[in-house]
Amino acid sequence: MASTLAPTPLEHPLRSGLPPERSAPPCALVIFGASGDLTRRKLMPAIYSLARAQRLAPSFAIVGVSNSPWDTERFRAEIADGIATFTGTAVDPDLWRDFSARMQYLEGTFEDPALYQRLGQALAGLTATSGNVLFYLATSPSLFPVVVEQLGRAHLHRAKPGEGEAGHEPWTRIIVEKPFGRDLDSARKLNQQLHQVFDEEQIYRIDHYLGKETVRNILIFRFANGIFEPIWNRRYVDHVQITVAESIGIEQRGRYYEEAGALRDMIANHLMQVLSIVAMEAPVRFAATPVRDEKVKLIRSIKPLAASNDPAAWARYAVRGQYGPGFISGKPVVGYREEPNVARDSTRETYAALRLEIENWRWAGVPFYLRSGKRLPKRVSEVAIRFKSPPYLMFDNLGAEAIDANVLVMRIQPDEGISLRFEAKVPGTDMRLRPVNMDFHYGSSFGEPQPEAYETLLLDAMLGDGMLFARYDMAESVWALTTPLLEFWEANPPKDFPNYAAGSWGPKAADEFLAREGREWRRP
Ligand code: BG6
Repeated sequence: MASTLAPTPLEHPLRSGLPPERSAPPCALVIFGASGDLTRRKLMPAIYSLARAQRLAPSFAIVGVSNSPWDTERFRAEIADGIATFTGTAVDPDLWRDFSARMQYLEGTFEDPALYQRLGQALAGLTATSGNVLFYLATSPSLFPVVVEQLGRAHLHRAKPGEGEAGHEPWTRIIVEKPFGRDLDSARKLNQQLHQVFDEEQIYRIDHYLGKETVRNILIFRFANGIFEPIWNRRYVDHVQITVAESIGIEQRGRYYEEAGALRDMIANHLMQVLSIVAMEAPVRFAATPVRDEKVKLIRSIKPLAASNDPAAWARYAVRGQYGPGFISGKPVVGYREEPNVARDSTRETYAALRLEIENWRWAGVPFYLRSGKRLPKRVSEVAIRFKSPPYLMFDNLGAEAIDANVLVMRIQPDEGISLRFEAKVPGTDMRLRPVNMDFHYGSSFGEPQPEAYETLLLDAMLGDGMLFARYDMAESVWALTTPLLEFWEANPPKDFPNYAAGSWGPKAADEFLAREGREWRRP
């Protein structure tokens, strides 16, 4: 199967046209949770963009399923509004006529077997989709097992043989949204529930960070260039920082966030996925199994976080924080405890930082620092590889403190690109040095808009390419690593929350966390 990342020779490496078209086979997309926020904000705008880019088969169909008392007309109107709001452009009337005709809505209770009978009938009526069905679990996570079980009971979990296009057997797949469990036990249980009905090959656990162009490009950067891989190891790298900072608060998601917190919401999925791509060994091929094997191997080689009840031991591995009132872009904002649906004495963390050690030959002794927080001064996600300082400085009057170590920064968003910082001589008769940057910007180099992560991932799932989705063992390995910390934090509520002001770079303890080792966080 052609992989998403199979390198494509381009006429000019930087100013190319589109890669060869990848387009989806005919299929029906069935969205459970069709009246929810994710469908309106992300899924349907992504599907619409794929249709506009002619990446969908003309006989494509969408079935929205939810318990909201809507009909198909209402579903269409809500989605049209969502597309206009979240793509920033009103729907194209010609395209919309055809697109909306392919949409239908089924109202029902997820626990009710009759809903699945009606769904079966609706799918049977879609003769042009060749029997291919992609289910999408966009409901609240507590309903995932319910929907999966009912799909199995209604025999909708397997394609009916012989219904496919000539020469192709039809397929049935299921995309599972995050959060994938809330700790190791619940993730294992969810995997079991899924495996009782679906084969692992049918299951696509989505993490939208893996669909971001800049994250996918880390693989290309590392493995399609000859000069970086030889220095991508403990001999040359001092440490690595992975930052996902957000200036937004928790918006209207207080109820969800009170259950989740920064470690579950961001670190245990998005940042761990990015880490695995940054640090894994070269896969034998760019295909789903070898890439996912390497990622899991990497997560399993991370040293377990302290298993003790000693807060001082844990403090060497992790810091947590919660924002209080403050200012974002000059405007006052409330603290976490004043947000809607948040307990006034909540101890939920909105900031988390981890120090991880990877125990293998490539990375032994190189700390990986991960941090993510809400209400930080700006929205920025990046990976910074800080190299070791030169072993010896031969310049008179210049001490080690005059030299900034080389830093390679992969900017995931915004201002997507890659830069390498190195020392240069300031022009003049004095010997003065200053760091300068070699910079690559996606925008100016390619001049192509980047697809939204959900577009890439939905198209991959329709094409049966699971490389950018998490396998069951990845989900479980991440929870195996993070669950002891979650448990320690739950058992030892913080006494100093809120401990950072909205609009600051997180708690003081996070700076001390690195300062203890003679390092500091980058200010992106
Ligand atoms: C989601 C989290 O998975 O990712 C949110 O639940 C977070 O809390 C979002 O805001 C960040 O995604 P992005 O693509 O805006 O960086």
